[in-house]
Amino acid sequence: MEGSKVDKRLPIIMAAAILGFFAIAGTSLVAFTHTATKERIAANERETLLHTLHALVPPESVDNDMVVDTLEVADPEQLGGAMTTVYRGRLQGEPVATVLTTMVPNGYSGPIKLLVAVRYDGTLGGVRVISHKETPGLGDKMEEARSDWIYIFNGKSLSNPSIEKWKVKRDGGVFDQFTGATVTPRSIVAAVKKTLIYVKTNKDALYDKQVAVDSVTAEG
Ligand SMILES: Cc1cc2nc3c(=O)[nH]c(=O)nc-3n(C[C@H](O)[C@H](O)[C@H](O)COP(=O)(O)O)c2cc1C
Repeated sequence: MEGSKVDKRLPIIMAAAILGFFAIAGTSLVAFTHTATKERIAANERETLLHTLHALVPPESVDNDMVVDTLEVADPEQLGGAMTTVYRGRLQGEPVATVLTTMVPNGYSGPIKLLVAVRYDGTLGGVRVISHKETPGLGDKMEEARSDWIYIFNGKSLSNPSIEKWKVKRDGGVFDQFTGATVTPRSIVAAVKKTLIYVKTNKDALYDKQVAVDSVTAEG
């Protein structure tokens, strides 16, 4: 009697065991793939960031890993976002350049995320747009793929042009606006100027390994 009960349940037990095995195997596979994908995504993101950082701060001009040598600062008024990341470039421990994740709060279709590179001498290493929702074909000429406009900032500073000329031409400044679109370039020029003022005011503190710079009062 007992033997036949076990015989009857064996197929069920076997099926349950096989099911369990596949469930565990499946879950482990998903977990493994997830981790592997996560690592690959993180590696790709790091590569993309490093590529852009090197376009703004030539790799031969620094000997530290700018991707990890960072500082988080909070100055929404000056830098547009709740928190801003500052990537620091150094050569034999000496300051070379900072690259800030400035946010342009007032683009035509919402915030525009920038990388703004400021050399230790206060000149711009360059600016790149990381993300935006500006109107395609009208407000997107700040993308490298669409025009050379974004290179207009290379080498500029708060004395070149003078601070009152940090506007688009339509508003009496020196920076070109886009054809049929002024809001986007106007907002980017203003955000880059504010970033330069922020870096000028916090110059040495931004390279300080320990200090997290909370906020400062900035002129202009
Ligand atoms: C559908 C539509 C989309 C537009 N998109 C943009 C844009 O992305 N960026 C921009 O600067 N202007 C854009 N404009 C143009 C602006 O509305 C504005 O006319 C232009 O920027 C000139 O601004 P100003 O008069 O302040 O100089 C768009 C206009 C329309 C009708």
